[in-house]
Amino acid sequence: MIQMVRRYTKIVLDHFLNPRNMGEIEDADGIGTVGDAKCGDIMRLYLDVEDGRIQDVKFKTFGCGAAVASSSVTTELIKGKTIEEALRVTNKKVLEALGGLPDNKIHCSVLAEEAIQAALIDYAWKNKLKIKGLATPEELGIERSDLQ
Ligand code: FES
Repeated sequence: MIQMVRRYTKIVLDHFLNPRNMGEIEDADGIGTVGDAKCGDIMRLYLDVEDGRIQDVKFKTFGCGAAVASSSVTTELIKGKTIEEALRVTNKKVLEALGGLPDNKIHCSVLAEEAIQAALIDYAWKNKLKIKGLATPEELGIERSDLQ
């Protein structure tokens, strides 16, 4: 266990032990739920969007410490950002912000990138918007019913 903890950066451990923006937003403008079939972890992101800007974001993650840390740092990376800026938050940005993850935990940061996309797909769908650069549910391997 201690060996495993040593593989994480101080930033990862801090986000895992003190997650930012954990919880949910009632009547959120966009909700995205994604999961990793191999490990079974699930990440859900809630967005409040006003005038094309993410005013508030919360997350609920059922998963490993790296998934919790990835979710937490992602909320910090996209809060207050425009939709276009949020779409530029890739898993590489999440990894950078965390100071890296062990190789076998990289997919946890990919889940965070996919959660942003899924929440924005839901937002676009609810508001009948087309957002340039946004993935399709098929590309993410999710169904409309999975978004919430
Ligand atoms: Fe799968 Fe972390 S081990 S998301």
